[in-house]
Amino acid sequence: MAVSCALLLSACGGSGEEQSTGSEDKKVLNVGTEATFAPFEFMDKGEVSGFDVDLLQAAAAEAGYEVNIQNTGWDAMLAGLQSEQLDIGMSGVTITDERKETYDFSVPYFESVSMIAFKEGTDIKTAEDLKGKKIGVQNGTTGQIAAEAIVGKNDSSISKYKTSALTFQALQSGDVEAVVTDIAVAYEFAKNNPDAGIQTVGDDQFVPEYYGIVFPKGSELKAEFDEALNTLYENGTYAEIYKKWFDEEPNIDSLKAAQ
Ligand code: ARG
Repeated sequence: MAVSCALLLSACGGSGEEQSTGSEDKKVLNVGTEATFAPFEFMDKGEVSGFDVDLLQAAAAEAGYEVNIQNTGWDAMLAGLQSEQLDIGMSGVTITDERKETYDFSVPYFESVSMIAFKEGTDIKTAEDLKGKKIGVQNGTTGQIAAEAIVGKNDSSISKYKTSALTFQALQSGDVEAVVTDIAVAYEFAKNNPDAGIQTVGDDQFVPEYYGIVFPKGSELKAEFDEALNTLYENGTYAEIYKKWFDEEPNIDSLKAAQ
């Protein structure tokens, strides 16, 4: 049995699934995401697409892996990382001290900050104006933390949704008056829904945050992907991917300064 397992690796299960890629055999990493978070990850013709997808694919190629990205949803992604059924979480996940107790993160790959999205005509000029409004957030995200910092933890004015898309649906239907989410996602939604009359406003109370690739605690992939990301920062690939999705040059120096 041991011999046949050695010969027929793929027939013997385990996480080290091999897939033939012509001459080379690269290990396929299982990746989870919550793909309603454009422009970072969203479903496009049945495939997960977005900045995160392009970046992860480039980093994986650099590190010598293939990736199988599944739209697992947010909670299942985090659970899958904890149980090590997933090798990677790639979902615009902000690096926080609290999360670092449970997961490992790559070096930062994107700088973000919270932003409030609301419909034209709603009186919101600063974060303080969230007080007394019905607020929607994606459950368990830094948007929830930012909203709670203003109106209080577990305040009944905050509705928590399972996906990012559901927060915007609630905004459009009028179930909530404001959504607190990540800046690029708020802009993207406003841009993609020009008839929805979506406005956005930031606030100095919202502090800069950085996205990282997430790994199970102790994963040896962290060092390999850190090196790969740094290579992509140096060789122009990161800038190319960034320009494709954001139409402007990235500030790689400030990303590296945050390492
Ligand atoms: N950056 C925020 C966080 O980590 C929101 C991420 C949400 N990502 C998603 N794909 N829905 O909490």
